[in-house]
Amino acid sequence: MMEIKLAAAPAAGIETDALLEVAFEGAKPDGLGGVWLAELYDSGEFSGKMLDFALRHRPDGLAAKRLVAIGVGKGDDFKPSSLRKAVAAALRKLRGKGVRRVAIALSGAYAGDEFTAAAVEGALLGDFEPDQHKTGRDKEDKAILEFTVSGGSAAGLERGRILGEAQNFSREIINEPPNVLTPTALAEHARKLAETCGLDYEVLDRARMAQLGMGALLGVAQGSAEPPVLIVLRYKPAQASSAAHLGLVGKAVTFDTGGISIKPSEGMEKMKYDMAGGGAMLGAMRAIAQLKPSVAVTALIPSVENMPGSRAQRPGDIVRSLNGKTVEVLNTDAEGRMILIDAITYAERLGCTHLVDAATLTGAIVVALGNIHFGAFTNDDAFYARLADAASKEGERMWRMPLDEDYLEALKSPFADLQNIGGRAGGSITAAMFIRQFVEKAAWVHLDIAGTAWNDDAKPDMAKGPTGVCVRTLAELAASWRD
Ligand code: BES
Ligand code: ZN
Ligand code: ZN
Repeated sequence: MMEIKLAAAPAAGIETDALLEVAFEGAKPDGLGGVWLAELYDSGEFSGKMLDFALRHRPDGLAAKRLVAIGVGKGDDFKPSSLRKAVAAALRKLRGKGVRRVAIALSGAYAGDEFTAAAVEGALLGDFEPDQHKTGRDKEDKAILEFTVSGGSAAGLERGRILGEAQNFSREIINEPPNVLTPTALAEHARKLAETCGLDYEVLDRARMAQLGMGALLGVAQGSAEPPVLIVLRYKPAQASSAAHLGLVGKAVTFDTGGISIKPSEGMEKMKYDMAGGGAMLGAMRAIAQLKPSVAVTALIPSVENMPGSRAQRPGDIVRSLNGKTVEVLNTDAEGRMILIDAITYAERLGCTHLVDAATLTGAIVVALGNIHFGAFTNDDAFYARLADAASKEGERMWRMPLDEDYLEALKSPFADLQNIGGRAGGSITAAMFIRQFVEKAAWVHLDIAGTAWNDDAKPDMAKGPTGVCVRTLAELAASWRD
C-alpha cells in the first residue's frame, strides 16, 4: 500500500529516493535542476516533451538521492491529464530500480487541487502491476511505498488518493482469472467492499430472479454450472440535496465463451475482462463511498458466466425480459445486452432517475474507435453533457455515437418483440439501440468500453492488462452532482 502525504519541508529538504520535477518543452528551466538541466536542454539530450526523462544522482543542494526531470510537453497546454501521465510513466521507470520513495515538487499555477490530484493518481496508476497471482518476493521489492507531494493541496491529495486507489481496486478485480472470479466470487468482493466502506449490499440469486421474471439474464446464465447473481450496492447520502437517484449498471460476464455461438479459441482467454463494466462500477462505488456526494447512488451488477453445454441457451430461443418484452436470441454471444436489460428494468423499479451503464459490449466499438476513446450513447442530451464534463475533467476520452430511431429496424424479429443482434453494420449502435428499448423513463447513457478496458501491450504510463477505465469519470459525475 502506497503511503501518500504532503511534504512538511520545502522540496529541496525532502528526504526521498527520487524527487520529480516537471519540465516544459521549449522553456528554459529555472527550477531545482539548475545548471544540470539547463545543459541537457542545450545539448538536446532533454527537451521537455511528453515522457522525456532525465535522472541525476546526488543532486547538488537537495536532500533527495535522485532528481528526475519529467517532460510534460508545452507549458501552454499543460493539463492535469499530462501531469497524471508523466508521473505514471516516471514511476513505471523508477520502480524496480531501488527506488521505494518518490516525491514531486509542484508549484505556482500547477499546485492546486486538480494538479495535485492528478499527480497522486499518476503515482498510484503507474505503480500498479497486475501481478497478484505471481509468487515470489521480488514483486514486493519493486512497489513504491511512499509518494510525497511538495507544494500541493490537501484536498487534491485526498481526492487523488481516493480516485487512484478506486481505479486500482477495479483493475485488480478485472485482472482476476475466470476460474477464481466467478459471479459468486464477484458478489463476495462487493460484499466486502460494502462492509469496509459502509454501503448497503444485497444480492439477488437465481431463484429470486426467476420469481421476478428476469428471463433475459437467466437465459444467458443457464449454460453455466456457476450460478448467476445480480449485485446491488447502495450509497445513501446523509442529507440528499437532490431528488435524483443515480444508477450505475455494469456488465459482469466473468467469462464469455460466446455460448453455443462459440468464439474462436484464439485470444479467448481475454474474455475474462468481460466483467470490466461491473468492475468499473465497484471501483466507482468505492470512490463514491469515500467522496460522500449528496446524491443517492445505486450500483447494479448483473453477473453470469456465458458457457456452451447441454443446458445452454440456443440460437432461436425466445426469452421474456423483466419488462415484459420478448427477445429472440439469434446469437448467444450477444449476451451482454441480455443481462443489462433486466438489470436496467430493475434499476428503474428501485427508483433510479438517471442511469449509466458500462459494458465491454461489442467488438464493433473497437473497430469504430480503437483503443483510445470509449463510445457513449444516450437518450438525453443534457445528462450526456454532464457525463462529458466529468470525463473531460478526469481526462478520460469518451466519444459520442449516434442513436437514431432508424437503427431499430435492424432489431425487428419475425417471431418476438426484438431480436438480440442487428447485422454487421453499425454493431455497437444496434447493440445500444437494443438496450435503449428497455429504458422506460430514466435519462440514460450507455458506455461501450470493449476497446478501452484492457491494454493489450504495456504502455509507458500503464501496465499491460486492465485499465480501470470509467471509474474516475463515474465517481466525478456523482461527486459533482447538481440538479
Ligand atoms: N464481450 C463481447 C464483446 C467484446 C469483443 C469485448 C471484443 C471485448 C473485446 C460481446 O459479448 C460479444 O461477443 N459481442 C459480439 C456481438 C455480436 C454477436 C453481435 C461481437 O462484438 O462480436
Ligand atoms: Zn459475447
Ligand atoms: Zn460479452
